Amino acid sequence: MKLWVLTIILFGIALGDLSDADKKRFDCHPEKDASQQNCEARGCVWSELQSSDSFLPWCIQKADKIGYKVTAQNGNNYTLMKNDGPKSPWDTDIQQIQMVVKSIGKVLNVKIGKDGRYDPPVDLPKIAVDSTDSLTLQVNDKSDPFSFVVQRQSNGRRLFDTSIGGLIFTDRFIQIATYLPSKFMYGWGENIHKQINHDFTRYLRWGMLARDEPPDSGSLDTKNLYGVQPFYMVLEPEGNAHGVLILNSNAQDVTTLPAPGLIYRTIGGNLDMYFFPGPTPEDVITQYYNFIGKPFLPPYWALGYQLCRYGYKSLAEAESVIQTMRNAGIPLDVAVFDIDYMMRYKDFTIGSGWENLPAYVNQLHDWGMRVILIWDPAIQVDYDTFQRGISSGARFIEWEKSSQVQNALNDLYPLTKGKLTMLGVVWPDRHVAFPDFLDTSGQTAKWWSAEFQQFYQQVRFDGSWIDMNEPSVFGTNEQDPCVIVFFGYYHNSDHPNAPPLFCPTSGDDSYWENAPYLTQAVYQYDGSALYTKTLCMLARTANRTQPFYNTKNLYGWSEAKATKAALQGATKQRGAVITRSTFPSIGKYAGHWLGDNTARWEDLQTSVIGAQEFNMFGIPYVGSDVCGFIGATTEELCLRWQQMGSFHSFFRNHNDNGSPAQQPTVWPTVAAATKKANLFRYRHLPYLYSLHFAASLRGSPVIRPVFFSFPNDELTPTLSYQFMWGPAVLVAPVVTQGSTSVSVYLPGGIWYSIFDYLEYQSVAPGKNDYPAPTTSNIPTFIRGGYIVPRQNPNVTTVDSRKNPFGLLVALDGTHTANGEMFWDDGITIADDITTLDYHRFQFKFFDAPTSGSLTIERTNKANNVPLPTLDEIIVCGYSNTPDLTAFTINGKQVNVNMQTSSYSPFTQILTIKTNNLIDLTTAETILVKWNAKAPTNNHENHVRYRFNDLI
Ligand code: GLC
Repeated sequence: MKLWVLTIILFGIALGDLSDADKKRFDCHPEKDASQQNCEARGCVWSELQSSDSFLPWCIQKADKIGYKVTAQNGNNYTLMKNDGPKSPWDTDIQQIQMVVKSIGKVLNVKIGKDGRYDPPVDLPKIAVDSTDSLTLQVNDKSDPFSFVVQRQSNGRRLFDTSIGGLIFTDRFIQIATYLPSKFMYGWGENIHKQINHDFTRYLRWGMLARDEPPDSGSLDTKNLYGVQPFYMVLEPEGNAHGVLILNSNAQDVTTLPAPGLIYRTIGGNLDMYFFPGPTPEDVITQYYNFIGKPFLPPYWALGYQLCRYGYKSLAEAESVIQTMRNAGIPLDVAVFDIDYMMRYKDFTIGSGWENLPAYVNQLHDWGMRVILIWDPAIQVDYDTFQRGISSGARFIEWEKSSQVQNALNDLYPLTKGKLTMLGVVWPDRHVAFPDFLDTSGQTAKWWSAEFQQFYQQVRFDGSWIDMNEPSVFGTNEQDPCVIVFFGYYHNSDHPNAPPLFCPTSGDDSYWENAPYLTQAVYQYDGSALYTKTLCMLARTANRTQPFYNTKNLYGWSEAKATKAALQGATKQRGAVITRSTFPSIGKYAGHWLGDNTARWEDLQTSVIGAQEFNMFGIPYVGSDVCGFIGATTEELCLRWQQMGSFHSFFRNHNDNGSPAQQPTVWPTVAAATKKANLFRYRHLPYLYSLHFAASLRGSPVIRPVFFSFPNDELTPTLSYQFMWGPAVLVAPVVTQGSTSVSVYLPGGIWYSIFDYLEYQSVAPGKNDYPAPTTSNIPTFIRGGYIVPRQNPNVTTVDSRKNPFGLLVALDGTHTANGEMFWDDGITIADDITTLDYHRFQFKFFDAPTSGSLTIERTNKANNVPLPTLDEIIVCGYSNTPDLTAFTINGKQVNVNMQTSSYSPFTQILTIKTNNLIDLTTAETILVKWNAKAPTNNHENHVRYRFNDLI
């Protein structure tokens, strides 16, 4: 027998050999007990096909027959009637639905649904950003089932094409599917993706339901994590890109089909789809940011390094760790305190061993540092915070009716006895209630703000970390004890086993818990349900108007909104909110960290991808738990993670309760590498901050995949572990154990190294290995054509901000470069960024044969923001010989310090460095100029020289 025959018999056929029909199977039995009988009972087809892909479905829908017919059209409003094709395998088809098409600028909105169904109440500004291209919609209204195609106007490319079939609309099961124009799809979340691009070599199904679920990067894992981001981008064959948002807050999942195509399923609401035309990837994101709301501007200090851990036994322990960092001279801006600081995990309290926290926070402020405290949404129901909530009319999530209430729990507490409050268990010792942040009366947000204000009188915190806001509930429907759930709720030694919440699992009350289709967010776990680790789906939210079934995915969003207001109300400063659970548009209010990762190399790798994804999702203030949260990290992993994390906007070393200490000072090598990496970061903070400013003002992403800048380069769409810092800087972190070099792909063009190896010299484009010993910073490059603003670093951003600026100029083939810098006080509340008191400078550099010039134009002027001088200009790729004795600023001769300035014709690095060189406040346009002569072949000497050697 031939080997290939044997292989097929043993493993089934490989996916490449699948027929076209088999590349677009619509799974009809995602639950574990699929059989021919179960399948056919659903009106689906059983079709066994041995395959190397264990996800390839055998029970399949007759998708090409399933759908709706157009029965009437009134302008852009189509009436759709269920066709005679097969019925939905789940729930009952709604006979008549509507499809309404709208254009919002160049954004196309196709909404399929029915009046009165739930739409998430996120207040999207829907600002229409223009595009050089348009989208057209073609409705095949004569076909049965009907279908529609979204096309790119410039080239007719079909971007979304529902002729693949399978449109289903029932009350609790909705499905739409499309062919995709390429296999380069990005986004959907929150899930762990091991590659930046989705994998179309097999069937994969991704759950989306906010869940307290630590990411597992160790294996292929399609679990749903903390938030829900139904947004994707596709890079088309011509190098154009488009984006799609499906605005829906119910539990949902997406299946990628090898066709290539996708099936989107949700169990409530409507199909409210928005198509963003691009045509560049960056255009897509800018359109998306403007549409959903541009992200909040982090305060400058929040871009500093942050240190945290869960499990400090007392403040004294935290203090001594912070002291080691200060002694080592490692730049550190923020001390972050986890639930340890609270009295038995109750919000707005200070526990024993932490009495000195208020004084210590003042001390940190004196050192120029800041403080972020954690808050959980779960409020213990027997102390004053809850009492004030009740008396001030704040709403808490409730049972639907009194017959459902778990009286055995509610009766334990005077404030919940006889009430509908739904109680659960989280970190506190006794039962907790969950504020209804979707309360439209404003009372809940008002109470939350009042609590912040009152607590601020005690401790002068600067930022707020909101955790457990999926919301997470311990032990829901878990039976006590040992026998059934061995590692579950009852085995956590840090709480006294308060009896957990039980949601009804049968009878009329279980209507929402027992939805007919439960999504991959349930099917992929053994013994899971929609209520697992959370509240019951039947709970009433949004002033009792909505079941939690509809709003669960909005909990973090609504808490973030209330918390940003509360934080700013208390501190009267901009502050920063970090949230675990996310939903589209939350970036207006908060940043995100990637959750409870594990101290493994795989987790370092997926963090690189996660940060790129959340930048696409509109949450650029994002990062991972550096060095790894769960488990013991290693010296090498921690060192590499510190180096990589120093390029993420949210940069925090955080560690789990019980794991060995992992602050950089634990190991001299990690301390040294962190100090070096942090100094590099702090030097470049004017650039990083300007990227955030541009994100908040215009809507551009901060961290981007490399393909954003090079969409036509066929090697970029799959580059997962290199990323761009804005348009100018490319970072290639070390993400594998034992590596002392990195294989880096620099797309065509001119690049210069900006790390230890050949610093500021040009390096060849293409794929090359770069040295990356642990003693050097990770490979980092600047792209020709860009100017990056910098500043001499210090150990806090407060001190760094007083230092002189510098410009790093990277010339391109036309000897020019451009850049910009935004500068404000970094702390004023910036809800409307356009009203902020800020400077904006635009830089233009030109290296001409007879002169060099830098034009600095102040295009926006702050009235009251001090500006350090610009003392250093480093030019990479400077090809003419400069004569700095003829150096003028706006025509006036200025003496350049020849001792600290230099030029080498061989490295082509020009350094101009002089104290107080350029006072940026003197004029709106500053022209800096010097003489130059074209290079000759007989240079005076062949070593880098200082200018005074020349004269
Ligand atoms: C959750 C958070 C983690 C935090 C812990 C204790 O697991 O994700 O960051 O340290 O709770 O508050």
